[in-house]
Amino acid sequence: MRFVVTAGPTREAIDPVRFISNRSSGKMGYAIAEAALAAGHRATLISGPASVSPPEGAQFLAIVTSDELHDAVHRAVRDCDVLVMCAAVSDYKPATVEPRKMKKRKAPFALELIPTRDVLTSLPKEDRNYLVVGFAAETHDLEANAQKKLEEKNCDMIVANDVSRTDSGMESDENAVTIFFRNGESQTISRASKKIIARELVKIISKMLEKCLTKKS
Ligand code: CTP
Repeated sequence: MRFVVTAGPTREAIDPVRFISNRSSGKMGYAIAEAALAAGHRATLISGPASVSPPEGAQFLAIVTSDELHDAVHRAVRDCDVLVMCAAVSDYKPATVEPRKMKKRKAPFALELIPTRDVLTSLPKEDRNYLVVGFAAETHDLEANAQKKLEEKNCDMIVANDVSRTDSGMESDENAVTIFFRNGESQTISRASKKIIARELVKIISKMLEKCLTKKS
């Protein structure tokens, strides 16, 4: 099977030396690509600036901005069986990028931000020949928020993690997730290393892919 995995943060430029980003390390997405390869699948890893090295054997595509990620995903899904959207995409970008370094001022000022494009909702909703796995980073109301994203972002499953915890989630080597499916079922993987969580996720995704392929044939 062909996996496309997005990982890491995006960066949205303010001026030539500054940007808006987030704390995503890329570890979860890189572990998923690695686990997919170890299970005998092909993996394309589309990543923003991350703190880890890409796994050997993955086709690696480096992106920086949410617009670059959007375009790279749309190209990659033409030839894949599953898209795993693990990237922590910036929801806003500066309305204008200053061509020169902004000088320090004494007075307070506000930066005008505009929404970025949502990659998941920009994908076709019907007649897709690949599965879509979303992620939901939540600090509160995990189940309700994840279910809403599963629906609104038209995912086949969504992997929710609590990013308010300091011992798992963003930047950590560990994670704990609950996966929500379209039929209302859910499955929890309790706290473990991201590599172990990734292996479990790849198993669950592969099972779902096999089911879909059997249905089609
Ligand atoms: N995502 C996306 N495009 C964006 C923002 C997010 O495709 N512009 C994807 C992420 O890769 C993830 C899912 O949407 O798979 C949920 O991302 P998350 O950051 O949890 O949610 P948001 O949509 O940003 O909503 P909120 O910040 O309000 O929780």
